[in-house]
Amino acid sequence: WAIGYPQTINCTWTVDAATHLDTCFIATYRHGVGAKGTGGERECIQPAARARSCSISDVQMFSITPYVLSVTAANPLGAATSYFHFIVEQIIKPDPPEDLTVSPIPGERKKLLLQWKPPASWPFPEYFSLKYLISYARDGGGSSNRTIGPYEQTSFNLTGLRPGTIYHLQVAAKDFTDYGKYSSWSPSVSGTPWTQL
Ligand SMILES: *[C@@H]1O[C@H](CO)[C@@H](O)[C@H](O)[C@H]1NC(C)=O
Ligand SMILES: *[C@@H]1O[C@H](CO)[C@@H](O)[C@H](O)[C@H]1NC(C)=O
Ligand SMILES: *[C@@H]1O[C@H](CO)[C@@H](O)[C@H](O)[C@H]1NC(C)=O
Repeated sequence: WAIGYPQTINCTWTVDAATHLDTCFIATYRHGVGAKGTGGERECIQPAARARSCSISDVQMFSITPYVLSVTAANPLGAATSYFHFIVEQIIKPDPPEDLTVSPIPGERKKLLLQWKPPASWPFPEYFSLKYLISYARDGGGSSNRTIGPYEQTSFNLTGLRPGTIYHLQVAAKDFTDYGKYSSWSPSVSGTPWTQL
């Protein structure tokens, strides 16, 4: 996933058949489908030896030529390679929004103020805006779960809430231009509208 568009792509993989053999991975990528061995192959950087992820950090935006990721698993008995073709804009998926806070609004018995930050892994939120969905549910409310949005701002006043009731809230983010997918939901925060007299 391009979790840090347009700077960072995080690639992860699993192995089909688990073995007890020491397995290492060689991850490379190329942009375009030139003949093998003609250069243009770059390393996809793994955070540690034997990690099952790597990251690509020099991405060409809006290229209609696919990138090809190649991951080779090697153990003492042999090696096998898988390929994955992708267009950067189609695999945009931000990490979830961060630092959610929910606050009562003095005197407002049916409202809550929800605030959050763009994911820290999204490098340029001021140039590549995100839009957000908010999910909220009453505590113990079963099917009261509602999703609203998308919104471009990073704070929102929820209205029409039940006085004196605990609400659980989550936020998800997507690239503003609608490329790719929504992030997973953030961890939830809880709050109760203003109850004092
Ligand atoms: C990619 O994301 C996974 C899951 O969030 C994380 O564990 C891993 O460290 C990341 N890899 C790189 C190379 O950033
Ligand atoms: C609402 O329901 C969705 C789908 O079941 C779930 O992923 C989400 O966490 C729920 N939201 C809240 C605030 O509980
Ligand atoms: C939420 O309501 C408060 C109080 O009415 C107001 O000051 C604030 O600007 C509102 N925030 C948003 C994001 O609408």
